[in-house]
Amino acid sequence: MPSEASVIMRVLQNQSYVTAMQSFYGATIFQNTANAYTAIADAIATFERTAVFAPFDADVDTNNLSASALRGQTLFRSNRINCVRCHDDRGDNVFTDFSYRNLGVPINLEVREINNHAIDLGLRENPAVNNRREEGKFKVPTLRNIAVTAPYMHNGVFATLKTVVHFYNTRDTGGINPETGQVWRGAEVTRNIERNDVGNLGLSNAEEDDIVAFLESLTDAQYKNKTNNAEIAGVLSGIYMLLLE
Ligand code: HEC
Repeated sequence: MPSEASVIMRVLQNQSYVTAMQSFYGATIFQNTANAYTAIADAIATFERTAVFAPFDADVDTNNLSASALRGQTLFRSNRINCVRCHDDRGDNVFTDFSYRNLGVPINLEVREINNHAIDLGLRENPAVNNRREEGKFKVPTLRNIAVTAPYMHNGVFATLKTVVHFYNTRDTGGINPETGQVWRGAEVTRNIERNDVGNLGLSNAEEDDIVAFLESLTDAQYKNKTNNAEIAGVLSGIYMLLLE
């Protein structure tokens, strides 16, 4: 989205958004770009503050972890594996410290093809960022609802959580990507790759599965047992209708 106007154009394409925005912010809200953009941001922020959006009722919140998920949580927090160095699980508990990192995620050849072979420099693409030290870095994402938000990483290169964890475990040890049957493909940007706590974790296969079980315990009750994007979209549009009432 290159500009505020283009964001507004996108919203205008959906009549139910237009109707809702006008009912909350006034019939003339779309006549001024800056006002419309502020109103859209306000609507999203208001929604994000509701318990509907952030119920904090996943198994991890209600202390309903299976034995495997508990072992996974212990690994996740341990000095040895240390996922929490970036996916901070203290305080507001959204599993990110909001920092930017380059994990050396493999190139997604299909995506690169669609993008005319452009290389995604991550944080460095931001016009306000002028430092090559930021090339290849992406924000540490939240892990809430991660089990229902495949594919993974900024370029969607991994289809399953097991692959993600295996990547962390074996990036630097000649591991095999189970989705391609080949060693991990090279990174999009090789500068600034994170070496600590990523790439050679010495996890057994069973320990990888425990971490996956832990990641699966981060799903809100409303998305549990939802296995595809259409079902998730169904839940979201239900929430949306509820908010309009
Ligand atoms: C050095 C910081 C760091 C550490 C340590 C780390 N992560 Fe991450 N994690 C990130 C970043 C940054 C991304 C996004 C990378 C990208 O898209 O290029 C990410 C992405 C992920 C994703 C995919 C998120 C999505 O929405 O696609 C999962 C799952 C994940 N991490 C789990 C873990 C687990 C499990 C561990 C421990 C084994 C771990 N991470 C350790 C920084 C870290």
